[in-house]
Amino acid sequence: GSMLGGSFANAADSAIDNILSTGELKVCFEAGYIPFEMKTKDGRFIGFDIDISKHMARSMGVKFVPVNTAWDGIIPALQTGKCDIINGGMAITPERNLKVMFADTYLEMGQTVLVTPEVAAQIDSFRDLNDPKFRLVSQIGTTGAMAAKKYFPNAQLDLFETSADSVLQVKNGKADAFVYDLPYNAMYAVQNKDSVVHLDEAFTYEPLGWAIRQNDVNFINFLNNYLVMIKKDGTYDRIYDKWFNS
Ligand code: ARG
Repeated sequence: GSMLGGSFANAADSAIDNILSTGELKVCFEAGYIPFEMKTKDGRFIGFDIDISKHMARSMGVKFVPVNTAWDGIIPALQTGKCDIINGGMAITPERNLKVMFADTYLEMGQTVLVTPEVAAQIDSFRDLNDPKFRLVSQIGTTGAMAAKKYFPNAQLDLFETSADSVLQVKNGKADAFVYDLPYNAMYAVQNKDSVVHLDEAFTYEPLGWAIRQNDVNFINFLNNYLVMIKKDGTYDRIYDKWFNS
């Protein structure tokens, strides 16, 4: 702030100032989103977003500080300063974009469904899931939950706090279909071949972006130029191949 006080005095404040003065880039994400952010048995965080975040922090000359946060509280955590940025597989949606600034898209994907083998044998397309006889599941506050309501308004829908709890319902045969992001579903299906079937036709378009607090043009400018740089210099592809093609 300045001696003038009031809100205009802080107009030039950027998260960058705090990152550099504390020597820490605090990054919000919700671990449990394969292969973007996972927690290992010994409590470390790993994944695509985690590697990018670590590299981002190094490029600013500061330390990466992970802030693992419940998904449905992740935007409030950013807004109240618990972290400087959300790098957690967040889709850029109009609703979210009214609350936060997004850097340019770093990855594109869409929604798909995982179904039980019994359901897979009964339906021809994901569209057939829009029927009151089917029980769908997804994670609270995700684009999967939004897509389930929009594309399958006639089906039953139950939402869970984590993706793991949601998908387990389908794996255990307690629900018919899990609506979620394609990369997660593709990897889960490979690891659970006998219990789920992946209908891998994406029926939404979702650009993922890093979110920061509003009115921070300095940080957005940094992030967009940083993204161009890592896409051109091989860093992005190296990290992508490590998590998506192995
Ligand atoms: N991409 C989806 C969304 O933006 C789900 C992201 C969930 N991410 C996570 N770290 N659990 O809503």
